[in-house]
Amino acid sequence: ELLAPGKGAFAGKHIVITAGPTREAIDPVRYLSNHSSGKMGYALATQALRAGAQVTLVTGPTQLTPPKGAKLVAVESAEEMLAAVEEAVSADDIFIACAAVADYRLARVAEQKIKKQDGATQLELVRTPDILSTIAHRAKPPVCVGFAAETQDVARYAADKLKRKKLTLIAANDVSDKSIGFNSDDNAMTLFWHDADGELQRRDLGRAPKAQIADAILTQLHELQT
Ligand code: CTP
Ligand code: CA
Repeated sequence: ELLAPGKGAFAGKHIVITAGPTREAIDPVRYLSNHSSGKMGYALATQALRAGAQVTLVTGPTQLTPPKGAKLVAVESAEEMLAAVEEAVSADDIFIACAAVADYRLARVAEQKIKKQDGATQLELVRTPDILSTIAHRAKPPVCVGFAAETQDVARYAADKLKRKKLTLIAANDVSDKSIGFNSDDNAMTLFWHDADGELQRRDLGRAPKAQIADAILTQLHELQT
């Protein structure tokens, strides 16, 4: 059974949440992106509002209706998302990075539509900034929560991201199971965090609707903070 945080658990708290995919332009009519629906991030925003938080939702392009009461900041690229988060989040806040940020962008965005040619072609890609890691490595970072979508060795990769990105909590899921995750209304996640002695702890949430998963993540976060 998954618990919800109490009504006022996050009263007076500002929570900044990233959601959805990013889009990296190739030319005026094309882009690189991924299958993220934004549902998990929007569910987190909705449940955080219910728990009394003030919520800023920094979102890539989605088909979803924004939760009433959240401050919405719409962005497209990873760089735009980083700039929006940099502006929104401060040391007293909580930052939850739920967006499926593109790891690469085009080295050069073509000003005109690229014309096809005979034979193969190549795109030159360069890395985008890691939004979560950038914020978590500030001199005075907010409390940072991340997600890890993996297709193999979920626990090992998630624990590695928890440590490397300096997070309080990470929610990991196995995206090799096509019936859950990305565009589904359900998810199955495992939470990882370090206890006061620095020992890695885990909690399996099992398969549940994304609203319940969001509640469980917020409940765990609240427990870690009190
Ligand atoms: N993240 C981010 N900015 C990026 C890439 C990832 O903020 N440029 C955040 C995601 O929102 C998520 C966490 O980092 O909370 C992990 O994202 P994931 O794609 O699983 O990990 P990466 O560090 O990008 O590593 P890889 O894709 O190689 O597994
Ligand atoms: Ca990635």
